Amino acid sequence: FNYQQATFLTSAPDIKALPADSGIEVAFAGRSNAGKSSALNTLTRQNSLARTSKTPGRTQLINTFVFAENKRLIDLPGYGFAKVPLAVKEKWQKSLSQYLEKRQSLQGLVVLMDIRHPLKDLDQQLVHWAVQSELPVLILLTKADKLGPGARKKTLLEVREASLAFMGDVTVHMFSSLTKIGMTEFEQTLDNWFST
Ligand code: GTP
Ligand code: MG
Repeated sequence: FNYQQATFLTSAPDIKALPADSGIEVAFAGRSNAGKSSALNTLTRQNSLARTSKTPGRTQLINTFVFAENKRLIDLPGYGFAKVPLAVKEKWQKSLSQYLEKRQSLQGLVVLMDIRHPLKDLDQQLVHWAVQSELPVLILLTKADKLGPGARKKTLLEVREASLAFMGDVTVHMFSSLTKIGMTEFEQTLDNWFST
């Protein structure tokens, strides 16, 4: 698919404000600052399609992008960021879990984790939930440029091994928005999901 065609569709504070629930959607989820918006920009080869930031918690709405008829990419708010007020945090978690539970067009979940801190509690809960819901998962180990070749390969193999415990359709690849390592595998997985 030509992800370069992606354009911004809507920013939704809750699932009621999302586009009609038809077609196929793939969502990007993960801890705050994991690199979700950056991965989306790299995939679509557009530097500022999704807003990125050094400040965790930048993406606070469900941002939707369309790249082909009825085919969308979804940038979700990050979880696990301690420094936002509790009320705000609860509101995000609520719209996030509602989205994940209710959205019929959701056909695959990309769970992004900083390769230096993979599989935190909330990441594991999310992957576990997705497997229970029979949703395929791509774990993308982001910022792979931050580690040397040996260290990142080691982490990749460890996370692959650990992910067997989820007993579901869970694929693990490394990725870097900076060096584009893992781009081919990332695109292939999405192509598969959007082809079904
Ligand atoms: P929230 O929207 O706050 O949940 O964050 P996010 O997951 O969308 O992260 P974002 O893409 O905004 O990236 C967070 C920070 O990490 C930014 O400063 C990015 O420049 C940086 N970053 C993202 N991807 C990479 C990468 O592959 N390599 C390096 N070195 N830095 C990256
Ligand atoms: Mg973001």
